[in-house]
Amino acid sequence: MAISKENTRPESMARINSKNLAETFISEQVAALKKQIGDGKVLLALSGGVDSSVTAALLIKAIGKNLTCIHVNHGLLRKNEPEQVIKVFKEELGADLIYVDATDRFLDKLKDVSDPETKRKIIGKEFIDVFDEEARKLASDGSYKFLAQGTIYPDILESDGVKAHHNVGGLPEGVTFELVEPVKLLYKDEVRMVGSALGLPDYMVYRQPFPGPGLGVRCTGSITRDRLNALREADYIVREEIGKLKPTPWQYFVTVPDIKSTGIKDGKRIMGWPAVIRCVDTVDAVTATVPEIPYAVLKLITERITKEVSGINRVLYDLSPKPIATIEWE
Ligand code: XMP
Repeated sequence: MAISKENTRPESMARINSKNLAETFISEQVAALKKQIGDGKVLLALSGGVDSSVTAALLIKAIGKNLTCIHVNHGLLRKNEPEQVIKVFKEELGADLIYVDATDRFLDKLKDVSDPETKRKIIGKEFIDVFDEEARKLASDGSYKFLAQGTIYPDILESDGVKAHHNVGGLPEGVTFELVEPVKLLYKDEVRMVGSALGLPDYMVYRQPFPGPGLGVRCTGSITRDRLNALREADYIVREEIGKLKPTPWQYFVTVPDIKSTGIKDGKRIMGWPAVIRCVDTVDAVTATVPEIPYAVLKLITERITKEVSGINRVLYDLSPKPIATIEWE
């Protein structure tokens, strides 16, 4: 599909590679948003990822409480993620934020489902349904005219310009939204530069890539609450310890596959899952290499995970490059 003129980055547009240029972009965008939105009201699905976070921060600067953010927790987020979104946006930036903990709903739908594609589809559809339901409650009186999306330029180049994950499905008849996409002509590094200039914390601005279906792709096979909890705790330890390295790998996380092996605890035979550490270096995620991690760090992580995380009795380091292996285990 041809990309429309308004979705094409003008050749004259300078690359935003300094704080000054980011600040200029912010003041121009704030003025443009005020003009587009006036005193209308805007809805935004805030995932906590850098694109939607920067979009939210720009809109808060432009229209304040006339932005309503909806943060849906699908139960597959990393440890502390929803708390961080609430802290930054609600407490620090004073956003009107609706937090929906839909964990039970997602995990019920995913029960006994082991096929990766089916899991992805369920998570994607359920996400849209939950967002729609919240949007419907707010928008049924027609008070929300606008829907904001954290679309960025690579999304436009790679698709038809709409982030399917954030798109709204069957809203009530008569409710149509005008889209607000303030970062749609920016590349990722520019979005980060703007996020920093807006005062967002580094852990949000320089966040690792994280799949939309979240830990769902790292809890392979059918998801159970106990294995998901073990994965979340092990992932936290790995992010904490590997995060101390300089430089940190491009992406680092844990997968807990649906297999058990024997172990010994308090003199008794036990069965437990393995935690697989995955670290990769890459430029574009199309190919990736595996960095050398100091043995002492791997040993410390192994000690911490096997001691602190219930259900895990083995820790492995995945040495496979991409290709042949993908980054996620799925
Ligand atoms: P693979 O596993 O295909 O992953 O080698 C390549 C990169 O893409 C990330 N990934 C996703 N990112 N939504 C995303 O935004 C997704 O559904 C998704 N699935 C994989 C993965 O973490 C890696 O960085």
